[in-house]
Amino acid sequence: MAIKSLLLLLTITLLFSSSSAHNITRILSKHPKFSIFNSLLSSTNLAKKINHRHSITVLAVSNDSIGGLIGLSPNIQRRILSVHVILDYFDREKLQNLKSHSTIVPTLFQTSGIAKGRTGFLNITKLANGQIAFSSAASGAHHVAKLVGQIAA
Ligand SMILES: *[C@@H]1O[C@H](CO)[C@@H](O)[C@H](O)[C@H]1NC(C)=O
Ligand SMILES: *[C@@H]1O[C@H](CO)[C@@H](O)[C@H](O)[C@H]1NC(C)=O
Ligand SMILES: *[C@@H]1O[C@H](CO)[C@@H](O)[C@H](O)[C@H]1NC(C)=O
Repeated sequence: MAIKSLLLLLTITLLFSSSSAHNITRILSKHPKFSIFNSLLSSTNLAKKINHRHSITVLAVSNDSIGGLIGLSPNIQRRILSVHVILDYFDREKLQNLKSHSTIVPTLFQTSGIAKGRTGFLNITKLANGQIAFSSAASGAHHVAKLVGQIAA
């Protein structure tokens, strides 16, 4: 399965951002509708990596949007989920105040050593209607996820 086509097949994202010590497992456990995403972060060992980083933004995917990931190999799950972890701090306010039309940011997938082209980067765009959209920065990527809210910052 081509990685490019798998990136961001998940449509609904919620934001968790932190610039200090945090435990992503504990934070998400307070939000039952992210229970599958949360357990996948643990089973793929990404939770540990997230907790070790200081400035981080996690695009959490709710249970009802994460179905496409279930049944995939842990390796593929890990790749897809690591694209949902931005290596910088973006809370809602910072996103809304983005100056340029679009911003390219690195994700945890970029640190894996296997990201080809720009598949390890996300394109964050503030749309004309003020909505925040996330898409893969890889060329040919069309799938766009919209920010629906913020869990914690
Ligand atoms: C993070 O929180 C989870 C759930 O509360 C807990 O099981 C785990 O031990 C915590 N991890 C760390 C590193 O504190
Ligand atoms: C998915 O989230 C809902 C809440 O939106 C929760 O009630 C349910 O238990 C979760 N499903 C699973 C399989 O964890
Ligand atoms: C980022 O996405 C927006 C909207 O989807 C697009 O217009 C823009 O060209 C993209 N920027 C880059 C550098 O890929």
